[in-house]
Amino acid sequence: MFEISQKLWKEANSYLIGGVNSPVRAFKAVGGTPVFIDHAEGSMLYDADGNEYLDYVGSWGPMILGHRHPDVISAIQDAIERGTSFGAPTEAEIRLAKLVVEMVPSVERVRMVSSGTEAAMSAIRLARGYTGRDKIVKFEGCYHGHADSLLVKAGSGATTLGIPDSKGVPVSLAQDTITLPFNDPAALKSLFEKDAGEIAAVILEPVVGNMGVVPPENGFLEKLRELTKRFDILLIFDEVMTGFRLSIGGAQKLYGVMPDLTCLGKIIGGGLPVGAVGGKKEIMEYLAPAGPVYQAGTLSGNPVAMAAGAKTLELLQKEGIYERLEAKADKLAKGLYDAAKESHIEIKVQRAGSMFCPFFTSQRVVDYRTAKSSNTEQYARFFWSLLEQGVYVPPSQFEAHFISLAHEDEDIDKTIGAIHKAMSDVKKVKRP
Ligand SMILES: Cc1ncc(COP(=O)(O)O)c(C=O)c1O
Repeated sequence: MFEISQKLWKEANSYLIGGVNSPVRAFKAVGGTPVFIDHAEGSMLYDADGNEYLDYVGSWGPMILGHRHPDVISAIQDAIERGTSFGAPTEAEIRLAKLVVEMVPSVERVRMVSSGTEAAMSAIRLARGYTGRDKIVKFEGCYHGHADSLLVKAGSGATTLGIPDSKGVPVSLAQDTITLPFNDPAALKSLFEKDAGEIAAVILEPVVGNMGVVPPENGFLEKLRELTKRFDILLIFDEVMTGFRLSIGGAQKLYGVMPDLTCLGKIIGGGLPVGAVGGKKEIMEYLAPAGPVYQAGTLSGNPVAMAAGAKTLELLQKEGIYERLEAKADKLAKGLYDAAKESHIEIKVQRAGSMFCPFFTSQRVVDYRTAKSSNTEQYARFFWSLLEQGVYVPPSQFEAHFISLAHEDEDIDKTIGAIHKAMSDVKKVKRP
């Protein structure tokens, strides 16, 4: 079933470190060999051996319209016809920036970059430059890309590999990053009462997707906003995953809580490499060339990537899109829960809009500690059983599953059928 993938895996390891260009792709958390993707269409992935999969990874979030949406492909083709990179201003950059300002309520000005990592890194530098303070606060299990200051108690691949604190991050830098438990406003308040004068910003995923899916508890985001305002500290929403995913204006629009700065990525590039920092004009004007905080990029605002992103955002503005996504995700999440219950498996299924995940635990999952209570061996069995049945979910417990607009009702029904079989396989895994 996976002969060609296995051959490619051997070859990849002769040239690429760990065989991959981003760690979670290596399947270390679930064991076995990754499948090599040949092409994709709509809700489907096709691997090098000719196996097909219903895709719930969606390139880790960007593919909200499904793969190879014809309008996005033709926008990319049109852009390529005019050249692939100029390193000079283009109208395409204005088009995407204007869409972002119109769609994301707290954003007045934008700086385009090429990845979510760059967006978060630049937002932190900007916050430090603007406030003249060095310390930042992040929450355990939130992932904001792999910039030094942010790779402290990070979720996602770092947690998957059991290295939440990476080697190579200078201790002196890590000391300026304070980590607190998610969903615990009291911890933040007591920190602010002690150290507010040294803190530039609080950064968080407003709905966490990088320790599995962990939504904010009622009032948590509001409390964060109130406290940061009261202590004069910037609030940064990392909406790289939630931006254009949870609503047309991201988590901030859904929850009605406005940050000072917003990091964007994934969907904003429509499948091509784009990230962005946006926020209040007064703060954004600290970025070069308008202000003293340096930030730059040879391929920033790349015209082909801008075209893919702008077309994607335009398509997401159609009526009823988010309701459709939500209905599909709700049906699948309920099916997942029912299948686990039928097999008497302890589970928590967590969902926000079209992102969700199962935790194999009896505990209520509200933060990193409780997320880690999930039985990852059971998750690994769940993953492999689904893969063998043609359903591709993230190869790690600590990642979000995504629904796209290309997932039809029959796809969801088929997936729920496969999940029933997967749960009977999971049942064979002994609890530790
Ligand atoms: C919330 C969040 N921030 C930042 C990043 C980093 O983005 P990138 O992988 O594009 O560098 C990710 C990636 O998964 C993310 O989910």
